[in-house]
Amino acid sequence: MTTMGAVPEAEFVVVANRLPVDKEVLPDGEVRWKTSPGGLVAALEPILRSHAGAWVGWSGVPDSDEDPEVEGLDLVSVPLSSSEIADYYEGFSNGTLWPLYHDVIAKPEYDREWWNAYVAVNEKFAEATAHVAAEGALVWVQDYQLQLVPRMLREMRPDLKIGFFLHIPFPPVELFMQLPWRAEIVDGLLGADLIGFHLPDGAENFLYLANRLGGHNASRRSVGVRSKFGSVDLHDRVVTVGAFPISIASGEIDAAAKSKAIRKRAREIRKELGNPKTILLGADRLDYTKGIDVRLKALAELLEENRLDPAETVLVQLATPSRERVDSYVAMRSEIEQLVGHINGAYAQVGRPVVEYLNRPMPRDELVSFFVAADVMLVTPLRDGMNLVAKEYVACRSDLGGALVLSEFTGAAAELTAAYQANPYDMEGVKNAIEAAVNQSRDEGRARMRALRRQVLTHDVEKWAKSFLDTLRNTGKK
Ligand code: ADP
Ligand code: F6P
Repeated sequence: MTTMGAVPEAEFVVVANRLPVDKEVLPDGEVRWKTSPGGLVAALEPILRSHAGAWVGWSGVPDSDEDPEVEGLDLVSVPLSSSEIADYYEGFSNGTLWPLYHDVIAKPEYDREWWNAYVAVNEKFAEATAHVAAEGALVWVQDYQLQLVPRMLREMRPDLKIGFFLHIPFPPVELFMQLPWRAEIVDGLLGADLIGFHLPDGAENFLYLANRLGGHNASRRSVGVRSKFGSVDLHDRVVTVGAFPISIASGEIDAAAKSKAIRKRAREIRKELGNPKTILLGADRLDYTKGIDVRLKALAELLEENRLDPAETVLVQLATPSRERVDSYVAMRSEIEQLVGHINGAYAQVGRPVVEYLNRPMPRDELVSFFVAADVMLVTPLRDGMNLVAKEYVACRSDLGGALVLSEFTGAAAELTAAYQANPYDMEGVKNAIEAAVNQSRDEGRARMRALRRQVLTHDVEKWAKSFLDTLRNTGKK
């Protein structure tokens, strides 16, 4: 472990809002650090382990300069006070940027105090990084919470190679222009040598904005999932902008899902659920972007129209708690819990709920066992940068069983074209997709899953990271 006062030494530094761990206090008072939730950590933790670098981030604990200890990871903690968490994390990051970047599904709030905290905390992260990065190091800044860090860090340490990757969608220009601090955000990002987005659409949106707000010369040479680069000419240097669709450790998940223990547990899960004909599964952070309400409403209507039989169907919804003090999350949780209550009230038998709702994180092996057990995976976000759950499900199905229902508005939809895709705003379309997935023939299911697996197994997270880091290393070279 490294602390902020340490001598600069890391040749590779990941900078993210969160360290990849969460504190857990056991009933006997013992402290344990467990992996924190979300796609960013799932993607980057294996990369840091294989690159021997440092990870700069917040420990998740307010008002604490406690340094998490995790074997094999060099963690550099940036302490945040309760008021910084309220204004920078819950406020500007998750009350302003998150809804703004996700199609304003919830209304973003524009609060000057939150903005000031965002600037101050970004400065803290830049300083901590400047402290630990070796001369000429490669620094990879992550996500919407830290969009000012590239510019701040470049001013402190012009010797560094700085990459930035956005894990969420970059919004259309008409929405981004609402932000009172739009020029500052674009300028903050332009401190990087390379700016990465999941999809060419995000890169296109950014290039247009850089041109419009910065008066820079932005050139676009991008369209299509895999052809992808553009650039912004700042006169003294050029910023490369590109699309890098993130993925998962496909091979590892595939191998885990094939293990005897997981297969056995998957059979047990089916039995514990009462051996239903069809297990539907949702697994998400409890977030209003994920469309958990969409799938519950679709299920309710399919049951009401006798298109699904409640005696033969179970929906398991795993929902990790997330951002529990942000108002829109509190409201969404109670809406979802009401929907679950409504469906069970109307269709369950004693001891046989139709919806099994677990509002807590699942251990990794247990989650993989659910993926193996599920006949139909429901991934129905209203907007999602990528959605790794969809890819994880596919990686678990070496048996070519199962079916994936996938929202068109996820980044994953661009790659997973053999899924049963639907527009999450079109309830009839979602219901038809679920019904088709439930009733697919064995041959149809196998053909679709084979195509999905071809994509997921040949495009893993290592390839994603290598492609980003190779491009970053080559920036600035003629
Ligand atoms: P996001 O980054 O918005 O949370 P992703 O789908 O990209 O969404 O990534 C979510 C990650 O969290 C995946 O690796 C997934 O396996 C994990 N995850 C999702 N639901 C749960 C759960 N209930 N318990 C534990 N991990 C979960
Ligand atoms: O991928 C989006 C993201 O916000 C990541 O930055 C983050 O690690 C993950 O979702 C979980 O969110 P949070 O850190 O707010 O719990």
